[in-house]
Amino acid sequence: MSATILDGRKVAAAVLERVRDRAAALFERTGVRPGLTVVLVGENPASQVYVRNKTRRAEEAGFVSRLVALPADVTRERLLAAIDELATDRSVHGMLVQLPVPEHLDPREIQRAVPPEKDVDGFHPLNAGRLLLGDDDGLVPCTPLGVIELLDHYGIPLEGRHAVIVGRSNIVGKPLLHLLLARHATVTICHSRTADLEATCRQADVLVAAVGVPGLIRGGHVRPGAVVIDVGINAIEDEAAGRDLLEGQARRLERFLAKGRTLVGDVHFGEVREVAGAVTPVPGGVGPLTVALLLQNTLQAAERQLGECG
Ligand SMILES: NC(=O)c1ccc[n+]([C@@H]2O[C@H](COP(=O)([O-])OP(=O)(O)OC[C@H]3O[C@@H](n4cnc5c(N)ncnc54)[C@H](OP(=O)(O)O)[C@@H]3O)[C@@H](O)[C@H]2O)c1
Repeated sequence: MSATILDGRKVAAAVLERVRDRAAALFERTGVRPGLTVVLVGENPASQVYVRNKTRRAEEAGFVSRLVALPADVTRERLLAAIDELATDRSVHGMLVQLPVPEHLDPREIQRAVPPEKDVDGFHPLNAGRLLLGDDDGLVPCTPLGVIELLDHYGIPLEGRHAVIVGRSNIVGKPLLHLLLARHATVTICHSRTADLEATCRQADVLVAAVGVPGLIRGGHVRPGAVVIDVGINAIEDEAAGRDLLEGQARRLERFLAKGRTLVGDVHFGEVREVAGAVTPVPGGVGPLTVALLLQNTLQAAERQLGECG
């Protein structure tokens, strides 16, 4: 059996088109374009790529997009003052501080400083609480929202199904748990202390990996016909790991050997696609959806701040 490949780029394009149309309609009614500001501290190369992607996509969607770049040695006080300034700027409807931040800064303090109504990453405790309580007036983290969007797009049922999530982070695993519960799935969440990960994963109708360990989920973790969503994005450089994880993907392996570096997920794609009913690739799976849902969150924040229901 060879699994259906769930195409995140295609689903993200559909979300972006919807967002562009809604943003244009908002502009027609109010004369205001949604404003997204990203704060970047330091020069982490991966963060620079992510931030460029976010601001570029925001512009393409007709948003006013701004980048506030601060030096890696910025003081806590200076960063909090910059956040405060954006918090009171009425042209900024959505804002986020790109993580990770340098060691001398506390990400939790930063997340609490962003006003909940502009917190388009959905990391503020008030938004986390709203999600837990099932309130629909909060902002929800983009990656778990992207997972649900992808499942919905492909008509994958959740009600009464067993979903197993591997990973309990505040940005992926835990919020996804609540989104899946709200869809009436039966949810199991696994982590590094789970006693028999393979057996637990094999119970899943829908298996989501959000771990950060390249290729952790192998064919043996998957019940035949299950849907497998790979949230992981991991850079690998080791040749033996590349040969293992890119098995059956000759062109990708060739490019990896030439470049010495590639991105892989938490799922061993070559093995899992022989067992699963459907699987997301990396890249091209959940990744593109995260940015699309960030723009959807920003639009929703703008609509609420302008007194429109969205
Ligand atoms: N697609 C996207 O846009 C997107 C967005 C965010 C993150 N990601 C990617 O998703 C992955 C996870 O990110 P994250 O921020 O959620 O990671 P994280 O905060 O490091 O959390 C990882 C989770 O995986 C668990 N874990 C680690 N090793 C394990 C093992 N061997 N067996 C079972 N569970 C294990 C950890 O368990 P403990 O809690 O017990 O330590 C933890 O709950 C990363 O590859 C990241 O790059 C992608």
